[in-house]
Amino acid sequence: MSTKQPDENEQALRRQLIDVRRNLHREPELSYEEFKTTEKLRKWLTDANIQLLDLPLKTGLIAEIGRKEGPIVAIRCDIDALPIEEQTGLPFASEISGKMHACGHDFHTATILGAAYLLKAREEELQGRVRVLFQPAEETGHGAESVIASGGLDEVAAIFGLHNSPDLPVGTFGTRTGALTAGVDRFEITVKGVGAHAAYPENGVDAIVTAAQIITSLQTIVSRQSGAREPVVLSVTRINGGFTWNVLPEIVELEGTVRTYNEELRRMIPDQMTRIIEGIAAAAGAEARLHWFPGPPATINDGYWADFTKEIANQVGYEVFDIAPQMGGEDFSLYLQNIPGAFVNIGAGPAYALHHPRFDVDEAAILPAAKYFALLADQALVRLKGKCGPKSETK
Ligand code: NI
Repeated sequence: MSTKQPDENEQALRRQLIDVRRNLHREPELSYEEFKTTEKLRKWLTDANIQLLDLPLKTGLIAEIGRKEGPIVAIRCDIDALPIEEQTGLPFASEISGKMHACGHDFHTATILGAAYLLKAREEELQGRVRVLFQPAEETGHGAESVIASGGLDEVAAIFGLHNSPDLPVGTFGTRTGALTAGVDRFEITVKGVGAHAAYPENGVDAIVTAAQIITSLQTIVSRQSGAREPVVLSVTRINGGFTWNVLPEIVELEGTVRTYNEELRRMIPDQMTRIIEGIAAAAGAEARLHWFPGPPATINDGYWADFTKEIANQVGYEVFDIAPQMGGEDFSLYLQNIPGAFVNIGAGPAYALHHPRFDVDEAAILPAAKYFALLADQALVRLKGKCGPKSETK
């Protein structure tokens, strides 16, 4: 990063954003319960004379900075925490038992708030408006839907979001064109047999053996029904069935997740699973049913804007990496289905993995990331205004 000695204002902002992050870290709130967090943000933004949009959001909020005319660019962070008991031992560790900012959304929030402050300071010069999104409930995979439904994304021409990366050191930046995170779907399977004495399985239909066959056969979707060039992960993560040692239960429940990048492939998987599940159940004389719960799709970065995020990252002195796609999910993907943009990773490690009870971020990454997002939004407006953006030809 820049070797220039930070001036007094910058030092004050650095301190202020670290305080914001610690304040949020002490009082983590779960998805759609971010009432206090929202109130804090409302105060911090209004104290800075930043305009808030009046939108029907239960939690989370959206601010806007800039002149009335011109294009609109959005920058987004997420604000929710996780049901995890913190074990960091930090002086500003969670004060709420069983809840923790274990994914660094406190870092994201402080960063985007900092970007909002910096953009506000040069509001008159902006070539349009910047929508600043403090999104609720990212961890559910459905928080972005509430923002879209609120109209908060209307008229936005380009959108950018961030996640901290515990694998990348401070001062590094990673993104890529195309798929960055996977589509995340959840499933449940109910296998219904006929209960029986364990000594006389012939008198029943064994739901446990049937479920076991289903579990192993489902992996053929990955190994035999999907091409080797299209990644798929299918994980069964829960098996519930039986209550004692000498009775075969009637019902076994399975739960799990499927991760994909390719949307066409993603849409085929429930049918492939249903064929296997129902076929094996029929062969055993049992019944089985698949319940499918679609989550966010893969995050597909637009090539133009992904390159643009790297260009600006280079300008501010980040070490820029093209990172590998990840099998985790991110509901920022829903914005990218309708608005071109890019999702990026900001190095804040090394640290324990995301969602680990000892996860922490390096706070030295906050101010540079805030400055980066302010410049990114500012320059994206210049691009759009200058009609050299990717959508300009169609206007
Ligand atoms: Ni996260």
